[in-house]
Amino acid sequence: MKIAIITGASKGIGKAIAIKLKNEGYTVVSISRSKAEVGDIIYEADVTDKENDFRIVKEVYEKFGRIDVLVNNAGFGIYGSFLETSLDEEEYMIKTLFVAPLYFIKSVYPIMVRQREGSIVNIVSEAAYVATPKLIVYSAAKAGLAQFTNALWAEARKYNVKVSGIYPGPVKTNFTSHPSFKNSEDIFSKYAVTPDKVANAVVKAIKTGKREIYVPSKLKIEPYFLKFARLFESLTYWIVSKYFS
Ligand SMILES: NC(=O)c1ccc[n+]([C@@H]2O[C@H](COP(=O)([O-])OP(=O)(O)OC[C@H]3O[C@@H](n4cnc5c(N)ncnc54)[C@H](OP(=O)(O)O)[C@@H]3O)[C@@H](O)[C@H]2O)c1
Repeated sequence: MKIAIITGASKGIGKAIAIKLKNEGYTVVSISRSKAEVGDIIYEADVTDKENDFRIVKEVYEKFGRIDVLVNNAGFGIYGSFLETSLDEEEYMIKTLFVAPLYFIKSVYPIMVRQREGSIVNIVSEAAYVATPKLIVYSAAKAGLAQFTNALWAEARKYNVKVSGIYPGPVKTNFTSHPSFKNSEDIFSKYAVTPDKVANAVVKAIKTGKREIYVPSKLKIEPYFLKFARLFESLTYWIVSKYFS
């Protein structure tokens, strides 16, 4: 029996991952604030609640005696000028996107190290590597998650624990339903791909342990743009500030 824990499994990308991993034969533990439809064990929980996250992992481990996959996916974005966005909401977003994965990994990683087997998959974003105007704090939280993923990948290899970051471009989900996206939804939906593309990337991550996996938009150019961006950062930010903000 293979056990997979997925956060943010009630909708969008997380739900697609839950369906995919169930089809792959996993026993799926789904976590989200509203009740997920897919999952063998379903927790209605907020991932920013540290004690509860540790309790959930302990319960799952005591029940099954192993944990094979952890997918940190729960998240949301806030869109707008930093002059206008809410600091309280931004703090909550950082906790959801960056701090909650630390809670889950802190509790699951020692189990996987003991097993000498397991996969940790973090759903990051292209915004981690090209900080995106109007997704300012979101980009920063995802950049933190990206570098955490990269560093943990390097450490975990020696214990045979796989660590991967998935970098999607726009995906058709409820992501733009946050009120701050009002009237900007079209920018995201035009080139968006379906969530099952991200679910396929998660399966690839579990199989290969590849450090970074890109899921580009329908334009398909982002992996090249991001590699270029990281090589020529200053020029890239000049382009971004001139044409995209
Ligand atoms: N859609 C995109 O274009 C895109 C691109 C790159 C990366 N991503 C990333 O993909 C991940 C999934 O987003 P999505 O596009 O699938 O959005 P979505 O359709 O809105 O789904 C978000 C999921 O996260 C859960 N969630 C949010 N905050 C939570 C919290 N504090 N505690 C527990 N669960 C929480 C939601 O469930 P409840 O509301 O029931 O709690 C829901 O299941 C996010 O990390 C996002 O940053 C999305």
